[in-house]
Amino acid sequence: MADALAQLDDYLAARRPEFTDRLTRLVGIPGVSADPAHQPDIGRTADLAATLLTDAGLAARIVPTPGNPVVHGEHIAGPDCPTITIYNHLDVQPADPAQWDTEPFRLTISGDRYTGRGSTDDKGPALTALQAAQYVIARELPVNITFVWELEEEIGSPNFEAFVRQELPRLATDSVLVSDTVWIAADRPAIDYGLRGLVTFEVTIETGTNDTHSGLTGGPARNPLAGLAQIVAECLDPATGRVLIPGFADAVVPVTDVEIDSFVASGFDVAAFMAMHGLTSMRTTDIRSVLARIMGEPTFEVHGFTGGYTGPGVKTVIPPRAGVKLSSRIVPHQEPHAVFELVRDFIQHRHPDARVELEAALPAYLGPHTGPYADAARAAVEYAFGVTPAFVREGGSIGSVLTMDRYLKAPVILLGLSLPSHGYHAPNEHYDWTQAAGGTKMFAHYFAHLAAGGAEGR
Ligand code: BES
Ligand code: MN
Ligand code: MN
Repeated sequence: MADALAQLDDYLAARRPEFTDRLTRLVGIPGVSADPAHQPDIGRTADLAATLLTDAGLAARIVPTPGNPVVHGEHIAGPDCPTITIYNHLDVQPADPAQWDTEPFRLTISGDRYTGRGSTDDKGPALTALQAAQYVIARELPVNITFVWELEEEIGSPNFEAFVRQELPRLATDSVLVSDTVWIAADRPAIDYGLRGLVTFEVTIETGTNDTHSGLTGGPARNPLAGLAQIVAECLDPATGRVLIPGFADAVVPVTDVEIDSFVASGFDVAAFMAMHGLTSMRTTDIRSVLARIMGEPTFEVHGFTGGYTGPGVKTVIPPRAGVKLSSRIVPHQEPHAVFELVRDFIQHRHPDARVELEAALPAYLGPHTGPYADAARAAVEYAFGVTPAFVREGGSIGSVLTMDRYLKAPVILLGLSLPSHGYHAPNEHYDWTQAAGGTKMFAHYFAHLAAGGAEGR
């Protein structure tokens, strides 16, 4: 095993320009899944992804779904070799160029840093795993490697289950690695064993057909924006974050003190967290409460109101309709559709003409943090970064994880490479060569360990 990895440092030095070139090409395509105008870019991303896999010596296919395709890559060493599946997504969040210091969809390289939309979420980690696969393929290690690159993760993976069901025979695997999560700090790798789920929905109220002058109609006319503000206030106490909908948290199993202890021990720091995310005021700064809330409690969030006038100066309009985009992060044992129905019924009971429409529904995930594959992941992180990883739960959501867990019946390990400072979904999102190099070693170690029978017979 040490032999198999002996040339990794030389390999990395030699491959850096190739990695940079691949990331440049991939970040150059604005594959924003949330925006229908970017649909052609999703297709171009799939084409490029298949080319990258083929160029790296894998067999690639673009598998259509009723929505965006999934790119499937495969290296088969032999029928008796262990199979490892690596999941990443190549669709990205939108980017507002006005908020960026560089062009979001042109990779900007400065020293170690790669800046561009999707660089860390999740194109950089995808190419890192590919680079490691290429290394072990060239050395003919006895391990089969499958890549699954999704193109609609950022909209809640609406067709991923259909993909998995259709491709099930080709997706048989011993272990799944998902590289789409964030470390606790730059010096503390984290392996997540839990994710929150997510329910997103929109509430709209319509009380007329056109804008009216509030001098002529104000008083008797209903105001849909005010109606939505009332709905929000009935659902949520903004000061504490407490959700006021009866029954909302009934299924929640509180995180244990032992779990919180281990999250605290992972090196989390509240002040650093606030600085990192640019938060100047929070509902609590108690470390145990902060961690328990992110890792194990549900939320009710308001993302944006639409409607009315927000331009310069005075305009005394009463809008005829308005909307509010809402979501809930949910935790294990909460069922997304049940949560949605509870919230919808609560709102519609009080406001019969409010429309409540579901967008995405993803269950939460609790995975293994013991067992041979978790041990292999820990050993890989220790080898690559020289630090024992923290096993933590994280507040974000990845729809595909649950689907793979359910259908592939193999342990799904969340082996992320993003750093909190990389700016997930934020302006000036970046990745860096240090994470790419360390990540390549991490994946290569995991592959080599399983190739050497590391998870057998345990
Ligand atoms: N990679 C993230 C998930 C994530 C976020 C993991 C934070 C760990 C910490 C993923 O790309 C993402 O952004 N998911 C969305 C899904 C949603 C838009 C359907 C999320 O969590 O909001
Ligand atoms: Mn992601
Ligand atoms: Mn994301």
